[in-house]
Amino acid sequence: MNIPGPEPRTDDGVGAIAAAGGLHNYQRWLHAEYGPVVRFQLPGAETAVSVADPVLLEATAHINKRPERLFDFLAPLFEAGNLQVLPADEHTPLRRLLLSVLAGRPSHERHFARFTELTTALADRWAERAGQEPVALQKDLTTLTLRMICAYALGGDAEDPDAVIAAFEEVLTAYLGRLYEAPAPDAGEEGAKGAEEALAYLRATVDRIVAAHESGGGTDRSDLIGALVEAGERPARIRDTVMMSLLASHHTTGVAVSWTLHLLGSHPEAADRVADELDRVLGDRPAPEYADLRRLTHLDMVFKESMRLYPPGPYGARETTEAIALGKYEIPAGTTVFYPFWAVHMNPDYWPEPEKFVPERFTPQEVAKRPRLAYIPFGIGSRSCEGAGLAVIEAQLVLAVLLKRFRFRPVPGHDVTPIERFVLWAEDDIRMTVSPRR
Ligand code: HEM
Repeated sequence: MNIPGPEPRTDDGVGAIAAAGGLHNYQRWLHAEYGPVVRFQLPGAETAVSVADPVLLEATAHINKRPERLFDFLAPLFEAGNLQVLPADEHTPLRRLLLSVLAGRPSHERHFARFTELTTALADRWAERAGQEPVALQKDLTTLTLRMICAYALGGDAEDPDAVIAAFEEVLTAYLGRLYEAPAPDAGEEGAKGAEEALAYLRATVDRIVAAHESGGGTDRSDLIGALVEAGERPARIRDTVMMSLLASHHTTGVAVSWTLHLLGSHPEAADRVADELDRVLGDRPAPEYADLRRLTHLDMVFKESMRLYPPGPYGARETTEAIALGKYEIPAGTTVFYPFWAVHMNPDYWPEPEKFVPERFTPQEVAKRPRLAYIPFGIGSRSCEGAGLAVIEAQLVLAVLLKRFRFRPVPGHDVTPIERFVLWAEDDIRMTVSPRR
């Protein structure tokens, strides 16, 4: 049976995607128009199919390959190869190793005090501006989460965290700027040289930390680098893994927190419920301990509902290595299968009134009523996000500290428009007025 979709065009679908305002919007439109399985044109993919039904998605969960061409733009950042497109036999042991660190409670607990310090420093700066100029949430919170992942991935022994952060931002602006055809202000030969030097500096920093591990030196070591060294991984792979961790984690986690505060700003009753819970669980303490997080159940539901409405990564992709059956459709080998996370989260068959912000959708009783893959902000199967556990801890901590201390209000007349910039990004940031709760 033929998969429904728009008539093929001579421009490979570029015009339709641009007219929709990006692939994330286009996928939502396609599913609203043609149903849960849609065929569409995409430059670089001969046949692309998007699947927005959580039951049909189960038939794709075993696919252990991403379409390489879609990730070509990231290739210059890696020496031994981009983890996201490594073949399954190389990827599986590396994934296991990453999960043994990133998903483990000991490593989260060990970094919790440092994460709290970094968050409190941002809250102190915001407190000085309270009631005056609005804060730019996305800018400040992605910087915070970059500081957090640097502290986590490099340990406390990176000699100059500010220099690491500046170098990483330079690399990112240069490479992602190219992807979205929005060159950085200093693009051109100078800019390219600067980005190359910044990349070399980051790699040398990782090498120094590896050397400290190998010699048994260093006082505050990185769990991640330590595990890679102990597993006998080669230096290029270790540098790549640190680069991937910084890349995959800071924008995603930063925007997840920003979108949550944005939603709470326009739902004061939900914000009050979170604040009451924080007062109950924390008493007079300004920040949670690690063990408090699991008691913040309302905050957790709010965060989940925010990532449903604004999934930080709006879509993912796989490439079939053999023919698969998707309900009544047959998908041949070599097909690019898209996971339109945003469209899945807005599927009205599983999410009544999908545009509404309703944290209570995430009570255990409600969750049990839905298929497993109805909610997939961290992706699916053997290529899903290895950092999910760490990301949730970071986000809950940041939200708890900020919402215990402040009330956030939208700035009248400031439009918040989601666009795709590698993550689901607010075009003109999310500006909010911050005021102390008491
Ligand atoms: C709220 C924050 C985050 C969100 C929403 C998020 C989401 C995602 C998504 C959707 C994918 C693609 C999954 C797929 O294709 O099925 C992914 C991949 C990945 N994420 Fe995250 N992520 C977050 C934070 C992090 C953090 C903190 C790390 C830590 C290092 C991380 C590391 C990775 C890695 C390494 C991959 C590649 C997975 C692979 O190919 O094996 N992410 N993430």
